[in-house]
Amino acid sequence: MTKFLSVTGGKPLRGCVDISGSKNASLPALAATILTDDKVTLSNIPELEDISIFLKLLTSLGKKISIDSKNCISIEGSLSSIIAPYEYVSAMRASILVLGPLLTKYHKAIVSLPGGCKIGLRPVDLHIKALRQMGAEISQDKGNIEAQCKILNGSEVLFTKVTVTGTQNVLMAAVLGRGATKILNAAIEPEVITLIELLSSMGAQIKLTGTTIYVQGVKKLHGTSFRLGPDRIELATYYLAVAATKGKVEINVSSDSCIKHTLNQLSAVGKADILSNKVKIDFSNAEINPVSFITNVYPGIATDMQPLLCVTNSIANGPSVIKEQIFENRLQHLPELARLGSKYEIQGNEVRFEGGSEYTGTTLNVTDLRAGAALVIGAISAQGKSQIYDYFHILRGYENFIEKLSSLGADIAVN
Ligand code: UD1
Repeated sequence: MTKFLSVTGGKPLRGCVDISGSKNASLPALAATILTDDKVTLSNIPELEDISIFLKLLTSLGKKISIDSKNCISIEGSLSSIIAPYEYVSAMRASILVLGPLLTKYHKAIVSLPGGCKIGLRPVDLHIKALRQMGAEISQDKGNIEAQCKILNGSEVLFTKVTVTGTQNVLMAAVLGRGATKILNAAIEPEVITLIELLSSMGAQIKLTGTTIYVQGVKKLHGTSFRLGPDRIELATYYLAVAATKGKVEINVSSDSCIKHTLNQLSAVGKADILSNKVKIDFSNAEINPVSFITNVYPGIATDMQPLLCVTNSIANGPSVIKEQIFENRLQHLPELARLGSKYEIQGNEVRFEGGSEYTGTTLNVTDLRAGAALVIGAISAQGKSQIYDYFHILRGYENFIEKLSSLGADIAVN
């Protein structure tokens, strides 16, 4: 029988919760281990489905992986294959991140084309264009990207659109390339900065000025031990869940500049008390403020936060307007939120929320990771019972999601 999440809403979240390591920073870090045969030890890696898939992909390429302790993984050895098969790439688009490292270290790569997904087309044309500019010969055959080169040459790469995985792929290709690479209009999301820090700790020569990344290729990278920072989107998820349920929670999170920035954005919904390793949020007597925004590249409001903010905007104390401009099809959670009680009008990718909507539990279907998290926030804040189908999407990106919410008093269980 199909399993679903069963939620009885209406209970304010209370207690204390820890934020896990960043999923979106961990995946490129795993890809970067291809760049050296030495041992790379990564700690604070969250235990979740997307990480498991990436580890299976690395194992299929020939890497030796050991789990040192909870959330700490060591990866070493040279590769026995340069083929990233469809079963992994189709399961997780971030697998495309192996293309740059394979090409620069092994001069050959066959990576399945990730194809579109529910939130949009998600092309990789800019990755391919940039790698070609660095001297790679790339063709597409039967759904695979086949790439080869004698050596990758440093080059001046201008991204006509800011792309996070594109920047990460080219950056990893450039660190072992010949000569200097300049990446213009690079993404400077915290997950790119983390990758720069990791690669630098492996011996890469990288400098960032504004949105330009300068790389001086080196012959070899070495092993390292590196700790991933906290997940800014997981932080936003719990913050907004506390707001939506009118709860009172302490979130344990170390406060680096990226986390401070995220907290600053979230404070528009309602203020929190920010301490060095903790955020105290109390919405028991506080209003939920609406936030109007257009999703944007960093330091704008991340597209991953948009579905979550749609929930608080629906029940907030006034109207708001939001626009999704990163992905063409990332509003699929709205018809589901309407079933809970959201009142809004959509025109293209712009949504006008009335505010003041009252949620009651219902049957819901999850279409993607963040949409799923938004539906759960909606369901735990609603009066009555909800059944949430296809919740596996959520487990791909959140460590112990059900357990953490239950520990905060949410009535949520797998049925
Ligand atoms: C994007 C988000 C990232 C988020 C992730 C998962 C941005 C800039 N990136 O990263 O914050 O964590 O989704 O939700 O907000 N594009 C092309 N050609 C390419 C590559 C990208 O046209 O070769 C377009 C995409 O279709 C999209 C935009 O550029 O409209 C940004 O894409 P990109 O940053 O590459 O997506 P992700 O890396 O998945």
